[in-house]
Amino acid sequence: MKKTLNIGLLGFGAMGKTHAFSVASLPFYFEGLDFSAKYAAVCTSRIETAKSASEKYSLGYATDKEDDIICDNAIDVVDICTPNINHYETAKKAILAGKHVLCEKPLAVTAAQAAELEGLAADAFAKNGQVCGIVFNNRHLAAIRRAKEIIDEGKLGRILTFDFRYYHNSCIDPERTVGWKQDKDICGAGTLFDLGSHIVDLCRYLCGEFDEVYAKEQIAFPEHKRADGSLWQTNADEAVYMTATLKCGAVGSLVASKITVGENDGLTFSVYGTDGAIKFDLMEPDWLHFYDANAVGGNYGGYKGFTKIECVGRYPAPSGKFPSPKAPNGWLRGHIESMYAYLSAVSEGREASPSFADGARVQEVLEAAQKSHLCGKAVKIR
Ligand SMILES: NC(=O)c1ccc[n+]([C@@H]2O[C@H](COP(=O)([O-])OP(=O)(O)OC[C@H]3O[C@@H](n4cnc5c(N)ncnc54)[C@H](O)[C@@H]3O)[C@@H](O)[C@H]2O)c1
Repeated sequence: MKKTLNIGLLGFGAMGKTHAFSVASLPFYFEGLDFSAKYAAVCTSRIETAKSASEKYSLGYATDKEDDIICDNAIDVVDICTPNINHYETAKKAILAGKHVLCEKPLAVTAAQAAELEGLAADAFAKNGQVCGIVFNNRHLAAIRRAKEIIDEGKLGRILTFDFRYYHNSCIDPERTVGWKQDKDICGAGTLFDLGSHIVDLCRYLCGEFDEVYAKEQIAFPEHKRADGSLWQTNADEAVYMTATLKCGAVGSLVASKITVGENDGLTFSVYGTDGAIKFDLMEPDWLHFYDANAVGGNYGGYKGFTKIECVGRYPAPSGKFPSPKAPNGWLRGHIESMYAYLSAVSEGREASPSFADGARVQEVLEAAQKSHLCGKAVKIR
């Protein structure tokens, strides 16, 4: 008999909806799925929004009290899609209540909180087999998985330098009303946590652990309006510029910005080694560009030059059959693969990847960047 995982969803904004879509999609995307998963409850800050989400998307019972879900014996997995400031308390409570926990990024708002969650998650896995995972969805795109394979095969040689960027344009309009992502009391940090967490994770995942970071934050539009028309003095960074040194000696840059006009979901990166290079652009997620420095040159270039690898939907089994592997990917595909990676780990009793430990390492780098901005010097990461 197939195991059914009952999930309690906390938060039904952009990410709650994305997770609900991903869980509903699993049987279509993964052949012979040996578990089933469904949302058995949904919690938002207002009971009306919870009820409407539950009715519209069949998410089980509705509540505006997260403890109803955390203390419910019928719930196996607590899925945290609430604003950043809530993650630590909620994840801690859910782990201590014996749940498996999936948490959106960033894991917490301080490195100390993230380290505590990492420890609790490790104990809970060792004692009770509870599986805790964090959502770094971009890791699960086909082209990024291929990038990881190429780097792990040694095809780039020694990594010398890198350049990770995540650009949005959402802070560029001073007339646009602010939400919690511009309020430091709720988000903990602005673009650094929101987009910066993704690129710090990818850099670490592909190139290795961070050693030191120097960072400068920017607020270009200090005044915004709140939804009620009152004036809001922005206290969360709109852009952050980092120079980082990794333990392997590579030095490079990471820039996260929401004041880059014309950008949509502009996540790009390049990694350069002694023997090759890779480049990726989220707006064209089907392709990974690979340069082999050992390819033979010659007239008209011989075989030298960047190769465009057709990663498209060529995922290994049990994924990759639907839609046809030649069909292009989108941002949602990364979230569907991310959800599968986490829930299959729960179903099989394996540790999740990315884990709370990954979330905690990323949080250390983010906090070092905040400290660096304040002191004007590079900050070492333990
Ligand atoms: N991985 C990604 O691609 C990605 C993208 C965007 C956001 N995120 C992360 O997802 C999280 C949620 O972001 P979002 O954009 O969905 O936010 P959102 O503002 O769209 O939705 C937040 C939801 O949380 C609910 N909520 C707020 N406080 C609550 C509480 N105390 N108890 C229960 N529910 C509560 C709100 O009612 C709302 O439904 C954030 O941590 C963010 O960093 C991840």
